[in-house]
Amino acid sequence: MAKIESLGIKTIESVHWYVHDLERSRRFYTQGLDFAELGVSSPELEKAGRQKSAVFQAGNVVLIVSQPVGEGGRAWRYLRKHPDGIGTVTYEVEDVEKAFRLLEARGGTFITDIQRFEDGQGGRLAMFSITTPFGDTTFRFVQRDGYHALFPGFVAHDKVKGGKNRFGFGHIDHMTANFQTMRPMLLWMEHVMGFESFWGIEFHTEKEGNVKKDHGSGLRSAVVWDPKSGVKFANNEPLRPFFKSSQINVFNEDHRGDGVQHLALTVKDIIASVKDMRDTAGIQFMPTPGSYYDLLPERIQRMGIKKIDEDIQKLRELEILVDGDKEHSYLLQIFMKEAAGLYKDPAAGPFFYEIIQRKGDKGFGGGNFRALFESIERQHKAEGRI
Ligand SMILES: [Fe+2]
Repeated sequence: MAKIESLGIKTIESVHWYVHDLERSRRFYTQGLDFAELGVSSPELEKAGRQKSAVFQAGNVVLIVSQPVGEGGRAWRYLRKHPDGIGTVTYEVEDVEKAFRLLEARGGTFITDIQRFEDGQGGRLAMFSITTPFGDTTFRFVQRDGYHALFPGFVAHDKVKGGKNRFGFGHIDHMTANFQTMRPMLLWMEHVMGFESFWGIEFHTEKEGNVKKDHGSGLRSAVVWDPKSGVKFANNEPLRPFFKSSQINVFNEDHRGDGVQHLALTVKDIIASVKDMRDTAGIQFMPTPGSYYDLLPERIQRMGIKKIDEDIQKLRELEILVDGDKEHSYLLQIFMKEAAGLYKDPAAGPFFYEIIQRKGDKGFGGGNFRALFESIERQHKAEGRI
């Protein structure tokens, strides 16, 4: 298909969560991940939206978290169908009218027309929302022209509460979602959103010879991106054989539908950040076996990276993973424990965060997906689920 006009996305401005327990999220983000709490929803907004919300920020990562107040609001409707999860991804765009016009011409489905707000200090904000094939996750497009307030209806705290981003979060590197079948979403991302194919892989444990041949778990992945902004979405669907035991299908059973599985947040120094998270904040990560590090020197040669700056013993202690495919060009990553496992509460959902430090590697090496896949597989085994 010929290249189609860009929507003018600048960045993922924020991600909007719907949760059962805002206090639990507040503790996780402010005391756990050292995010700052910028503000909360005003009483008027809580009444109108039938949900109470707080905004958290670390670096360029902005999260809005909402809990239902009574019945009928958006958070309540989302949580009636799913455990805690991401209900909206908000993009900042250069020109909201242009984005609206392009989406309308390409068959976008609008939840709202363009809504305009002023902050009383000369700042303006315009936005609209659309439905998507990402389950019940919607997309919102925002144009800011000097708008001072956080969002309409939010009240900034006089003094920012919570943390100071001591772990050094930078921005959202990518978002990953799981589907029962992902082709409709991929076509929609291409034809409606104007994203392009970036990378793809298939993977199955049955073919790895490390499990019994009568069962196994597979996934097919496709990464799409918006070349202008660099926004990337990685997407997974189950891969035969053994559809039912594919961890992608397990996610969909737990989430009760398609939806966002993880967000990857960048850090500048993953060793220092993860050490600090483990030692001082009690953040839990998915386990990596010692054998991974026994084989790592050989893998680094085989992947063509040849040499890494980090001490393998340190990576082993912290259970940080390495991936890449070019000489001295690689990435370091680790996956936090999923919320449902962390809180021993299925209503907390199968979502987790990834922490990533890129050292020259801009892509998605095969090992990236394999490492995550194997991490989840180990977690599922440890929980006796497979
Ligand atoms: Fe990822």
